[in-house]
Amino acid sequence: VHVALADRAYDVHIGAGLLASLGERVRDALHKQRTGGTPTPPAMKGQATRRAAPPGNDAQRAFLAYDDNLPDSLVETAAASLTRAGFIVTTHSVHASEQTKSLDTLASLLEALASATIERSDPVIALGGGVVGDVAGFAAAIYRRGAPVVQCPTTLLAMVDASVGGKTAVNLRVDGQLRKNMVGAFWQPALVLCDVAALDSLPDRQLRAGLAECVKHALIARSTPARDRLGSDATDVMLAWTEESIPKVLARDREALIAFITRNITVKTAVVEADEREEADDAVGGRALLNLGHTFAHAIEPLHNISPTNDPADAPLLHGEAVALGLIAASACARALGMIDAKQASQTSVIVAKAGLPTCVANLPIDETLLSAMAHDKKQQDGQMRLVLPAGPGLAKVMRNPPADAVQAGLAAIRA
Ligand SMILES: NC(=O)c1ccc[n+]([C@@H]2O[C@H](COP(=O)([O-])OP(=O)(O)OC[C@H]3O[C@@H](n4cnc5c(N)ncnc54)[C@H](O)[C@@H]3O)[C@@H](O)[C@H]2O)c1
Repeated sequence: VHVALADRAYDVHIGAGLLASLGERVRDALHKQRTGGTPTPPAMKGQATRRAAPPGNDAQRAFLAYDDNLPDSLVETAAASLTRAGFIVTTHSVHASEQTKSLDTLASLLEALASATIERSDPVIALGGGVVGDVAGFAAAIYRRGAPVVQCPTTLLAMVDASVGGKTAVNLRVDGQLRKNMVGAFWQPALVLCDVAALDSLPDRQLRAGLAECVKHALIARSTPARDRLGSDATDVMLAWTEESIPKVLARDREALIAFITRNITVKTAVVEADEREEADDAVGGRALLNLGHTFAHAIEPLHNISPTNDPADAPLLHGEAVALGLIAASACARALGMIDAKQASQTSVIVAKAGLPTCVANLPIDETLLSAMAHDKKQQDGQMRLVLPAGPGLAKVMRNPPADAVQAGLAAIRA
């Protein structure tokens, strides 16, 4: 999938076993980025070269930040491929959690980059889920005022969502509370490489969590420029197609995964291309449409006692699980406002259940607490609640200051 963003354009490669050719793909992408896509020039005889790199590309070192939960073989495959392509590789492990998606981890990454004498043209490669992608992407954005980053997502969520679009961030702890993605930068990658083989080791629960963002894409597809990229036929049936694909995705059928991830990335790409920095008017929607379900989700995600199975051992919720509940709450809220019919609202719950994601949870705090958390969500503007709601099959729109009773109807729908 090509992401057409003027001088920040890049490609997303999707396939099985791609990490084995990571090095050459990185070389190629860096070269394209520097030359605007012209082919690599042949070597010039006798040309003095400071670097052991192939001609036409002056990056010498590569910094591989990897998730410490990945199987060693995956990290070794990526590092070996970079070495074969002529890079001197430094590897650096990162522990992925919302607590470690922090300024401290960012600082240690920046120090490790400096200690490895990474230069501004050398690639930072993020191999891991959304946490590693966000923090390593942010480190790349600010290290020496910006080094190229290559995203190699290893979770479904990071493949279909976090790795594409250039948002990078860390969380802040403010007054004892974890505030998500409070510090960050827009920093588009030079390349995104989705190797579906990397999903082999991903726990089932994490795979299911990634499906929540895919259901979201299907719920908004017809409101996005994905209609032009995929064709209206594909966007019109995206929800049914997603529902049909879920069992194959959960069975990790590689062909199905490739088709599924490709289509989801195409939706995300089309939205990002049209509104790279989330500046579109409410009437247009733009990138804000990707927040469907997220305002509800952000209010319940930090609650430590909420479990997707209602077994306390499974608490807290993963981001995708909170988003799944958020999609149901948004649908119920839209239903209360007469924006969608009962059949469409219940369809959201059916597909969420089919993905093995929670449809309701126990122990949610009282409405006032959740409404206040939603009002403080960072996506709000000028103190107004800005909610994205379903507005018909495959359609969504932004709504400012929705009536409290409609939001409460949304919350009621996800209370066990
Ligand atoms: N930048 C964006 O546009 C964007 C979009 C959506 C989400 N995000 C961010 O992404 C994060 C969530 O990402 P995530 O769901 O990938 O979570 P994550 O990065 O925390 O990974 C989930 C868990 O899976 C493990 N893991 C990752 N890949 C694995 C593999 N192949 N095998 C075994 N274990 C593996 C990780 O170590 C971690 O324990 C959040 O911080 C969220 O804010 C960013």
